[in-house]
Amino acid sequence: MDLKVVCALSITLVIALSALAEGIAPPTKCQCKVVPKQRTNCGYPGISAAECKKIGCCFNASVPSVPWCYNPKQKKVRKVCPNDPYTRINCGHPGIKPRDCIRKGCCFRAHPAGVPWCFYHRTVEEAC
Ligand SMILES: *[C@@H]1O[C@H](CO)[C@@H](O)[C@H](O)[C@H]1NC(C)=O
Repeated sequence: MDLKVVCALSITLVIALSALAEGIAPPTKCQCKVVPKQRTNCGYPGISAAECKKIGCCFNASVPSVPWCYNPKQKKVRKVCPNDPYTRINCGHPGIKPRDCIRKGCCFRAHPAGVPWCFYHRTVEEAC
């Protein structure tokens, strides 16, 4: 195989693996704050705490007759446009129109000079 092909394949593999790792990342404490009545069952009845956590679910056995192994809440993320112009990461091309920039899902601010005006937003996790 051509070296370029090998290189491209290994990059693809690394990306795929990191996506997979992200998918099975354990839920945060915050994501497991689900009121007992709203819990949806995860795993199988009688699952152990360790097994439950291993499959990426939350475990809390403090309340009887509700699921103890349950699905975590979705992480709430919010998009923000960074305030510091010098941390901007360019999202457009010089002279991009505000409309085209927004359509790409980026932030547009036509000031100051010498920094990108069309730039990527950041995502911040919201508190639960
Ligand atoms: C388990 O759930 C109860 C009821 O929602 C809550 O008060 C308690 O803090 C939880 N325990 C843990 C370790 O999260």
